[in-house]
Amino acid sequence: MLDSTAVLNPPAPTPRLKPLGPVALLRVLTSNPLEAWTKAHFEDPIVMGGLSVGRVAVLSDPAAIRRVLLENCSNYQKDWLQRRVLSAGLTNGLLTAEGNQWRTQRRALAPLFARKTVMNFSAAMIDAAHALVERLSLHEGRIVDLAVQMTSVTLDVLERTIFSDGFGRDPEDIRLAMKAYFEEIGRIDPFDVLGVPSLIPRPRRRRLRPMLDLFKDTIETIISTRRRRIANDPDGVPRDILTLLLEAKDPETGQVLSEVEIKANILTFIAAGHETTANCITWSLFLLSQSPLWREQIQAEADRELTGDIGDIDGIAERLVETRAVIDEANRLYPPITAISRVALGPDELAGQSIKRGTMVVIAPYVLHRHRALWNKPDSFNPNRFLDGARETIDRFAYLPFGVGPRICIGATFSLQEATIVLATIMRHFTLHLAPGHAVWPVQKVTLRPQGGLPMLVRKR
Ligand code: HEM
Repeated sequence: MLDSTAVLNPPAPTPRLKPLGPVALLRVLTSNPLEAWTKAHFEDPIVMGGLSVGRVAVLSDPAAIRRVLLENCSNYQKDWLQRRVLSAGLTNGLLTAEGNQWRTQRRALAPLFARKTVMNFSAAMIDAAHALVERLSLHEGRIVDLAVQMTSVTLDVLERTIFSDGFGRDPEDIRLAMKAYFEEIGRIDPFDVLGVPSLIPRPRRRRLRPMLDLFKDTIETIISTRRRRIANDPDGVPRDILTLLLEAKDPETGQVLSEVEIKANILTFIAAGHETTANCITWSLFLLSQSPLWREQIQAEADRELTGDIGDIDGIAERLVETRAVIDEANRLYPPITAISRVALGPDELAGQSIKRGTMVVIAPYVLHRHRALWNKPDSFNPNRFLDGARETIDRFAYLPFGVGPRICIGATFSLQEATIVLATIMRHFTLHLAPGHAVWPVQKVTLRPQGGLPMLVRKR
């Protein structure tokens, strides 16, 4: 067990001294892209390179990142790899839309994820956290995969906040289909990495069909049922994300979302919101299991804030300040989205390098958050970085778990509130130890997760 003053350097691949050759790189990119980064990526402001398909610039200079994602963002479009990997079923949703379609949707959807709306979801998040405590209590003294449990609780939160009156069919069927579906699209297809045109069928994609159909049927039924309810009794319907989505309007043009866009966004919120937030809580649990000092501190905070009358429910996450700092530090060390990428539509200059049209610019939170020039002891776990004014010293463009600029994650507030509530509730009720003999290793399968899950021994406090 660690001494409480020890510096914890949680597991991470050692950066390579030299870049891999094209064949080895392709192999690593399909197995665990995290293992491809070199020392130069963690030390230099920009690293130029690339496969045969084009030039790639990996950018870790805050001022240049500001230029790409904010000041000159109209010159940088979401790249083909990201769009292709995600396009199965999510086209027309906010994550993959571009141009006018994206602008209208972003303006229409912003109120759904505004701070006040999200705070109103606190009660649903607390209920989901309590349901998780009940499920975990059944496993007292046993080893449980907490990564699986976190996927269930984040899906439960989405169910309760998107469709608060349920799926209208067995949620377990939907959950299994959803899990299989997102696992399937979560794989990086070597065809995509190689830039094989999308007209060439991907054998794996065919397997998605039945799962996609189950979703579509379920979501269509839910939408039509809700539309009927709104028509019959507008004041009696729940004020959940589905109702807000059906009412959403672009404030500038008055345009509402089409049926296709509504469906695509429900799928997008589930796809973008459950695995990412699940990983964030999973990594936080792992880090706390390795740091007795922080575990005790977080348990004390949870005891203080979550015992007895908890007062203003909507503001609960804002009172869990240390828990939130652990979440922020977990998102720094293990950012669920490890890389944000864009393609340059025209030439530019970034961090002293000229960028040609067509260059893929990669901003990798995983690299940026561990960059030698930007962080003190970048590989060590220290939530104090986000406490007592220290947070204000962090460059806005050096910490980007949710991206930045116009395409910043719309669900950031939602996700942070949810992760804070769920983590604190777990810590209030349990002490979790990593299963004896289990070694944790980070692996990137679209999102960053512990390879083989997170088996932990569950003990009630
Ligand atoms: C820890 C959890 C999460 C992380 C790390 C995360 C990360 C990100 C990142 C990095 C982006 C920007 C991508 C880019 O610029 O290319 C993004 C966009 C997005 N995220 Fe999240 N996300 C999380 C949770 C959520 C949740 C809970 C939702 C919804 C319920 C959500 C919905 C979206 C959507 C719709 C976009 C696209 C926004 C746009 O392009 O306008 N995310 N997310």
